[in-house]
Amino acid sequence: YLKTLNKNGQLFYQLEHPKFHAEISQFGGQLISFKDESGVEWIWLSSSAKLDGSAPIRGGAPICWPWFGPAQDNSLPQHGYARRLPWQLLDCEGDDERVRIRFSCQLDQAPIDLSNLSLIIEYVLGDDITINLHTENLTEKTLNLSQAIHTYFNISDIYQCKLIGFEQINYEDKLASKSGVHKHPLSISYPVDRVYLDAIEKIEICTDESHFVVSGSGYDSVVLWNPWKEGAEAMGDFDNDGFAHMICVEMANTQGLQVGSHDSHTLTQQIKRI
Ligand code: BG6
Repeated sequence: YLKTLNKNGQLFYQLEHPKFHAEISQFGGQLISFKDESGVEWIWLSSSAKLDGSAPIRGGAPICWPWFGPAQDNSLPQHGYARRLPWQLLDCEGDDERVRIRFSCQLDQAPIDLSNLSLIIEYVLGDDITINLHTENLTEKTLNLSQAIHTYFNISDIYQCKLIGFEQINYEDKLASKSGVHKHPLSISYPVDRVYLDAIEKIEICTDESHFVVSGSGYDSVVLWNPWKEGAEAMGDFDNDGFAHMICVEMANTQGLQVGSHDSHTLTQQIKRI
């Protein structure tokens, strides 16, 4: 099922299976495309995304690790290093139903010391998408971690989009520096950058054409992000009209995850389309 492609000096893994076509970038180890049996693209990728390894890829499902958001030391990059490093293919196996493919993040290439940590991503792709992000702490100290699977969902029209599952959940609004809660399913017509402080079991992203059901395990928060028009225009690698066709729903640990010495943690995001 697996083909390797070299574009702009970067490696991309293409999976061609009767049930789907997918593409994973070696840089960032991230899924950048998943088309189901009917040819419908589930994952948004900016057409102006940098795919040459010079910057994190704008779109797909970037991995934020070992921190989510701005670093405590503001000379370090937002969302950590995993999305800025090459990942090594470990194995790939499949059958008529699905393909399992795993990559290991080349943490020794990070400019900070991440030795004795291991970060492995496993994609299980078939009728749906499962992303398992596995952190192992082989140091003698507890690891304090924040992280996210920062998936950009491809949607036909943000103006028609309804988000179900966030009702009654406390959120921190990063744009308004306040907290809140809302009672009804959400429709978006403005920039949104919110951390919902709960392991919401199921989120539905509904438009006339797509209906995604997002779930998972091993998270304490769900992040919702859309930069809207001005935000998109301010980013050099974000298509100006891209905001109308994407929404990020990110399974995350933002509240202080600790991974004990010689212990491990798995963060999972599962995506179905019904
Ligand atoms: C979201 C954050 O997860 O990612 C936002 O909550 C941030 O604050 C967005 O703007 C995109 O981040 P970046 O670093 O990819 O531009």
